Amino acid sequence: YIDNIVAQEVLDSRGNPTVKATVILSDGTVASAIVPSGASTGKREALELRDGDERFGGKGVLKACENVEVAIADELVGLSPYNQAEIDAIMKELDGTQNYSKLGANAVLGVSMAVARAAAKSLHLPLYRYLGGSNGVIVPTPMLNIINGGAHADNDVDLQEYMIMPTGFDSFKEALRASSEIYHTLKKLLAEDGHPTALGDEGGFAPNFKNNEEPIEYILKAIEKAGYKPGDEVSIALDAASSEFYKDGKYELKGDGKVLSAEELADFYANLVAKYPIVSLEDGMAEDDWEGWKILTEKLGDKIQLVGDDLFVTNKEILAEGIEKGVANAILIKPNQIGSVSETMETVRLAQRNGYNCVMSHRSGESEDAFIADFAVALNTAQIKTGAPARGERTAKYNRLLEIERDLLYPEYIGKELFRR
Ligand code: PGA
Ligand code: ZN
Repeated sequence: YIDNIVAQEVLDSRGNPTVKATVILSDGTVASAIVPSGASTGKREALELRDGDERFGGKGVLKACENVEVAIADELVGLSPYNQAEIDAIMKELDGTQNYSKLGANAVLGVSMAVARAAAKSLHLPLYRYLGGSNGVIVPTPMLNIINGGAHADNDVDLQEYMIMPTGFDSFKEALRASSEIYHTLKKLLAEDGHPTALGDEGGFAPNFKNNEEPIEYILKAIEKAGYKPGDEVSIALDAASSEFYKDGKYELKGDGKVLSAEELADFYANLVAKYPIVSLEDGMAEDDWEGWKILTEKLGDKIQLVGDDLFVTNKEILAEGIEKGVANAILIKPNQIGSVSETMETVRLAQRNGYNCVMSHRSGESEDAFIADFAVALNTAQIKTGAPARGERTAKYNRLLEIERDLLYPEYIGKELFRR
């Protein structure tokens, strides 16, 4: 049974405080989990409880830690750690709000993840096996964010993430090697042209560019120069995070000096898709612009993967609405948007039953915790987005996936099959 639960304020990759929860079982098992934190957050995400006082510029999480140690521990101590659904349901009921605004999703998710990890550990099972049973066999194809813009960098690039997707490989290990080689080639190409090679929040390069298209040109050059075939072996994925540049019903692309309607923005993307080997576009339209999303889905939905992040916020009710209205064809999965392990699993299952692809995802503020690597394998999301192949908080996830691939009896890497539609 759960003997004790404690919490501590630790730092995330941006140097901001976040919650580390630790669960101690009666058999002596101790397991912890650290909660991540986003910068370009969706409006309907579960609430991240911050102290709002003078410490850490208001970002302290002592209140959330206290909620773990008092309110939550009071309910959970004495219970079995092996019933994740029950544990998560009890915390949801204790909170009593729609979005965890009482306890804080950072408090609840920290405990939810730590309970799962403690249960796995005490059964001597790897986390992916505990959460996924014998089904978890697909090592996800990564989306690696190698040029950072938007809210994750101080440049004039409007689109937030320019990612490579190494689809044409037989294993995660080889796919990661190619990605690392491309990353280093890109660094050289940028430096040769006099661009700074300082990194953005997710480990990608973050110089200024002529427009929002030039980063794609650089990435294609890097793929080729590193000896790989664009499209066949390595494709491009974008996260526009367009809610960030949506103002008064229009999309302001500062990098291109343009203000576009949803229709025009969809044409802008369609032009990019026609020109470049782009396989996936996330948050192409803003979270409040469901009309724009419909236009985009009609235009590109049968050509590429359209991922809803801020749009769906890992929420199964909002996803159900999207499925019904035929909006997007894939969903980004961020456990801290919804607040617990069980609710994340429910959303993934709904998506998978309805033919929506799932992309497990980190946040821009991360930690050394690699929970999502195991979670992606457990749920067979087949895709994961966890930043550049650099910076410890990003490589923690990739390195964990290397380990899982090595340990699996029959690991599958299905990059080539992902976008056959
Ligand atoms: P965030 O960015 O973690 O800052 O929200 C990630 C994303 O938009 O996918
Ligand atoms: Zn996003």
